[in-house]
Amino acid sequence: MSAKFKVIFDTDPGVDDAMALYFALAHPDIEVLGITTIFGNVTVQQATTNALYLTRIAGYEIPVAEGAPVPLAKAPGAPPGFIHGDDGLGNLPSRSPVTAQALSCSAAEYIVQMARAHPGEITLVAVAPMTNLGLALKLEPKLPKLLKQVVLMGGTVTEPGNVSPVSEANAWNDPDAADLVFTAGWDLTMVGLDVTHRVVLPGSFFDALADKHQHLAMSTLQHAVHFYCNFYGAIRPELGHACFGHDVLAFVYLVAPELFHTQEGRIRVATTGAGNGQTMMDRHGSLFYPQPGWEPEKPLTRACMQVDVKLCIELIERTLGGNWLKTPLLN
Ligand code: BDR
Ligand code: CA
Repeated sequence: MSAKFKVIFDTDPGVDDAMALYFALAHPDIEVLGITTIFGNVTVQQATTNALYLTRIAGYEIPVAEGAPVPLAKAPGAPPGFIHGDDGLGNLPSRSPVTAQALSCSAAEYIVQMARAHPGEITLVAVAPMTNLGLALKLEPKLPKLLKQVVLMGGTVTEPGNVSPVSEANAWNDPDAADLVFTAGWDLTMVGLDVTHRVVLPGSFFDALADKHQHLAMSTLQHAVHFYCNFYGAIRPELGHACFGHDVLAFVYLVAPELFHTQEGRIRVATTGAGNGQTMMDRHGSLFYPQPGWEPEKPLTRACMQVDVKLCIELIERTLGGNWLKTPLLN
């Protein structure tokens, strides 16, 4: 039997973040050691509240460390309540009482402490603005060698952006941090819009899971997903009442990389101007006219370019449909 992936999950829950979290808790090959939160889909305080809520109602006592409230350099913007709800979970009508608190250390400190305590063992799965990763790199420049690997949902190579013609939301929210992440030198896989825009999950997919489980965690996810589907239905009516699973694909890649076709190249992130947040990949391998910033020593990123959609959706369904939910930890 192969050892489980020991994961720190960096997240801004967020509806697709909630899907990803539940996939990770449900999958037998993943052990979520801790969660770090970040601004993005909601404020960082709301992200922490949601991470604590989602884990406890599913019956899991996982440590949560709160991260950065704002980007490294860019002026902060308002969270997109019209996509994820003002509370990040589709404006839940009520919540059960959960009194768990976040750790006293910051997200960046937690990542560094854990990486030093378990050198070469931890996978960081990051599905949000990359500010915590940037801060952790500043605290511990050897972090890329202390972690086993980083898998991130963010960026795009050939698919159009989702917050500007060229930029994906997580890279756009903190482009300075994203550029640090893509040039840091870890074993890095990017799961971007090139693949996440291929995987469409209908609202009915989550209705069936909620029916099957009859559990607070899954009915919470079901509610959140319907709100999220309303947003996607308005901007992409051809999808029907459905949504993109974005963040869950980072975990699908972790446990089933064979479902993806990848390409390696140097990636930089535009930090200013109209292309702000654009992830630019050198797909040639060697540039005919080498430019500053694209030196051959710059590290390579493995970018997911294609996905087996059918097998991916089957894996998500099988995993979330398993026997993983426990008695909620309330009060
Ligand atoms: C990414 O942006 C966020 O809104 C989602 O949670 C996902 O991480 C998709 O571009
Ligand atoms: Ca996210």
